[in-house]
Amino acid sequence: MDRLDVTEIFEGISFPGHLHTLESLQFAISFPFQDQDILIVSYPKSGTTWVQEMVTLICSRGDPSLTQSVPNWARAPWLEHYYCASVLGAASFKLTPVILHYSRRVIIYVSRNPKDVVVSFYHFHKMANFLPEAETFEEFLKKFLMGTLSYGSWFDHVKGWTCQTATLENLLHLTYEEMSLDLHGAIKKVSSFLQHPLLEEEVNNCVQHCSFSSMKNNNMVNYTLVSDHIMDHSKGCFMRKGKTGDWKNLFTEEQNHYFNDFFKSNMQDCALDFVWEVQ
Ligand code: A3P
Repeated sequence: MDRLDVTEIFEGISFPGHLHTLESLQFAISFPFQDQDILIVSYPKSGTTWVQEMVTLICSRGDPSLTQSVPNWARAPWLEHYYCASVLGAASFKLTPVILHYSRRVIIYVSRNPKDVVVSFYHFHKMANFLPEAETFEEFLKKFLMGTLSYGSWFDHVKGWTCQTATLENLLHLTYEEMSLDLHGAIKKVSSFLQHPLLEEEVNNCVQHCSFSSMKNNNMVNYTLVSDHIMDHSKGCFMRKGKTGDWKNLFTEEQNHYFNDFFKSNMQDCALDFVWEVQ
């Protein structure tokens, strides 16, 4: 199948041209946010879709009607994608946009152990025809560390959104690992941050509907609605493993050491303690 990997360069970062245009990227950074907007920000493969689902469910008090009838990209659109302006124009329900840049509205920043991010991203490149062909994992890992993959550097992204913003009251830093460890607790944390307290039964419903197995079986969020031309479903699943620590199945010992050294020297100016463990 032909790949659609035309690249759009914006502010030194490459974006898949299938989803982004210079106009749509400009639209994202100059978006007129409103007070009630909830922004979910993340580097790819950090748990974005999971948090989109969680926030939709919290706003619906655990009722899955919306998550089971409207695709996630329509109820929580990526501001930087070319179709966003038309989705926002047509939407009649509460939206939770995902943005690239800082805003004063409520922001949930999602991060994940970068070793699991790079492994998840590598597998995603095999099925996503709008991304460049994944070469060997060795090559892919090098590009990840150098920040030359689509969407730029993980290190710049995480440092930009956590180190310099650690004291912002309107920003919640949520990790994939804390959601994996205690989904119930993470939902309560997010609902309290959004000032949207839930009854215990409503929290339990959220837990049920944003569990990995529920989301894997929900066509509105598992990306099976996307045509094979764009995501080749014979080459993988968007809802792949949903686990922490899968990097151990792909990293060699040498790659692990190299990664740890690189991480140490590149994150030393970031005083924040991350919940996930890189070692
Ligand atoms: P894996 O490829 O490791 O399985 P994003 O939405 O930011 O692109 O992240 C996708 C990753 O989040 C994938 O990781 C996907 O399986 C995982 N994911 C999505 N929903 C999840 C859930 N409910 N529980 C655990 N992992 C989930």
